[in-house]
Amino acid sequence: MDINARKLLLFFVAGFLENIELKVTCSPHVLECNTTALHLEMEECGGHFKTEMAELHPNYSCDFTHFISAYHYFTSCAENNSVKIGCFWPHPVVEHYIILIHKQFFSNCTKNKDPSDTLEDTFNSTINILIIVTVLLTLAMVTSVVCCSKQR
Ligand SMILES: *[C@@H]1O[C@H](CO)[C@@H](O)[C@H](O)[C@H]1NC(C)=O
Ligand SMILES: *[C@@H]1O[C@H](CO)[C@@H](O)[C@H](O)[C@H]1NC(C)=O
Ligand SMILES: *[C@@H]1O[C@H](CO)[C@@H](O)[C@H](O)[C@H]1NC(C)=O
Ligand SMILES: *[C@@H]1O[C@H](CO)[C@@H](O)[C@H](O)[C@H]1NC(C)=O
Repeated sequence: MDINARKLLLFFVAGFLENIELKVTCSPHVLECNTTALHLEMEECGGHFKTEMAELHPNYSCDFTHFISAYHYFTSCAENNSVKIGCFWPHPVVEHYIILIHKQFFSNCTKNKDPSDTLEDTFNSTINILIIVTVLLTLAMVTSVVCCSKQR
């Protein structure tokens, strides 16, 4: 893994860890998650990211330092909206968009580089981590919701 790939992986994992504490607290008002609304919001967050990526010179399309701010905006937007709508974060709908964006924008990044040292590999391993974290968080959420309702 090169330095950019490492940073990206850390960025991802840090983003998720940052949010665990917040979401697994026992909230008295467990909102109903509207996935239709979440899909619409994700289209908006993703649309912003796509615009930014389209403006990026192709030479830099695989360079982490050039797209990190757009990427950060996307994750921040996704997070804010899931919380606003009452969906826990990370949510499978959000994860689906992250994977979609990965396929659309970074699937080419393998081609010009050493195959053992690619952004593509990082993304794939990151997405695996993401899926595991989401599954664990979903279980934690379900458990805490059940506990919360039993307490009342
Ligand atoms: C979910 O969100 C959509 C789009 O904003 C809205 O049309 C729909 O009525 C909402 N459904 C519920 C159950 O709140
Ligand atoms: C993009 O890369 C090509 C080939 O290395 C180079 O000739 C060109 O100047 C680069 N363009 C920019 C904007 O960096
Ligand atoms: C998300 O919320 C945080 C905290 O309220 C805010 O600083 C940030 O700008 C928001 N991000 C987006 C993309 O709206
Ligand atoms: C992938 O590479 C091909 C050929 O270089 C190019 O035409 C295409 O636009 C690239 N796709 C993305 C998503 O950058």
